[in-house]
Amino acid sequence: MSIKNFKGNVDASYLKEMAKLLEDIKDTSYQMMNLTPGTTTLDIGCGPGVDAYEMAKIVGKEGKVIGLDNDPEMIKDAQENFIAANLEFTIGDVKNLPFNDGYFDSVRADKLFQVLPPDLILTRSSKK
Ligand SMILES: C[S@@+](CC[C@H](N)C(=O)[O-])C[C@H]1O[C@@H](n2cnc3c(N)ncnc32)[C@H](O)[C@@H]1O
Repeated sequence: MSIKNFKGNVDASYLKEMAKLLEDIKDTSYQMMNLTPGTTTLDIGCGPGVDAYEMAKIVGKEGKVIGLDNDPEMIKDAQENFIAANLEFTIGDVKNLPFNDGYFDSVRADKLFQVLPPDLILTRSSKK
């Protein structure tokens, strides 16, 4: 595992190794999202695409998964490694999601919030 060389940067290979270690937790999160065949879901901060690919298997060919990340290198890695007809990866920012309200049946963000700047995750009512 590449963690022995970890220097504070979260790169694609580290996230892929972590995905193996966290497989059970991730599977539980998919169950809690009520992912079922034919549903449409969004993975914000999808990183290298491991989770989006797993969810694409669950929602099947009638469903759709979009993985969104603001790092073009992560999206490139995801597009190169995870290919499925019902799976798309796109560059985008959680601050300005390019989707209409209600487009998705479910949305997830795994290990995204801890990398966002505090001013982004504080709600207006919590800023005094
Ligand atoms: C710790 S990684 C988690 C990746 C993946 N969800 C996983 O569990 O392996 C956080 C990801 O969030 C992305 N990210 C950070 N800020 C973002 C933002 N403002 N909008 C979208 N993605 C962002 C990073 O590029 C990175 O891929």
